[in-house]
Amino acid sequence: MSKKILVTGALGQIGSELVPELKSKHGKDDVIALDYSSPPDDYEGLLLEGDVRDKEVLSELWEKYDFDEVYHLASLLSATGEKKPDLAWDVNMEGLKHVLDLAKEHDTKIFWASSIAVFGPNTPREKTPQHTILEPITVYGVTKVSGELLCQYYHEKYDLDVRSLRYPGLISWKEKPGGGTTDYAVEMFYKAVEGENYICFVDEETRLPMMYMEDAIRGTLKLMEAPEEKIKVRTSYNHSALNFEAKDLEREIQKHYPDFEVEYKPDERQKNADSWPDSVDDSKAREDWGWDHEYDLEKMVKVMLENLERKLN
Ligand code: NAD
Ligand code: SER
Repeated sequence: MSKKILVTGALGQIGSELVPELKSKHGKDDVIALDYSSPPDDYEGLLLEGDVRDKEVLSELWEKYDFDEVYHLASLLSATGEKKPDLAWDVNMEGLKHVLDLAKEHDTKIFWASSIAVFGPNTPREKTPQHTILEPITVYGVTKVSGELLCQYYHEKYDLDVRSLRYPGLISWKEKPGGGTTDYAVEMFYKAVEGENYICFVDEETRLPMMYMEDAIRGTLKLMEAPEEKIKVRTSYNHSALNFEAKDLEREIQKHYPDFEVEYKPDERQKNADSWPDSVDDSKAREDWGWDHEYDLEKMVKVMLENLERKLN
């Protein structure tokens, strides 16, 4: 029998790539996409409009479709969260609590997205371990630490099969990122292809863990497909691929666009970036369920530019 799957935050940077991937694996009618924004005119397939803070909306969907799996992506990100901390708390925490409660009732398998934002200035910066100090300085990070603990609690207390990844900054070309600190990396690509220079909101030596979206989607599906006994971490797995300084990305893009220039003018988002690790140790994910990345900086830059050139020109 086919699986019924719900993706919340389906119009976002990750959802817009995860939904088509799930549809190609499970069939287009079995993947239900939900977002509180309206779909663009050229959106392919059905998109339900609803707010994850509204438990009734979610409950009715669960009753109607009896989901086997839910990918809960609806969230505010770090930069928007700092502008609207109350809303970030409500969306990120109420949404997750409703999803976990309904999953408990209906025995649904859950994927929930955490982030490198769980780490803070007291966390070891290099090869940040799986189990370490979690003292974030952003409200976004606070919701991610709280969410991780809630997921683990529902697993321990109710035997809920909930799985999660601490995504690094994700780089993609299909949908623009939605208000995070790592957005600068994607913006740099757009400006280069549009033939403009870029004013970067973090300084040139800012080093952060990053990942190409194709790797992130593959990792997400691999985690969800892994046998239950392989999943040893029920907070959230460190999930890593590459890391670079903003200047490294500029130099790599300049190999393709020699005239492209970046000016560095850090704003309030620099503080978020400074509180996150340079690199993350994801050996636990590699050992437990066989995570492996495919894209290094050179390969990612080449593919990003090719795809953006096709999209924009
Ligand atoms: P995004 O901002 O691009 O998309 C989020 C989507 O959620 C948007 O389409 C938005 O309309 C929707 N949404 C927001 N509030 C909602 C609500 N109340 N009800 C229903 N929908 C709502 O975010 P993303 O980059 O796709 O991130 C998805 C998840 O992955 C989030 O939990 C985020 O914290 C996590 N994550 C993302 C990154 C990244 O670099 N993109 C890195 C680490 C973690
Ligand atoms: N890309 C995300 C952000 O910058 C990390 O979770 O908010």
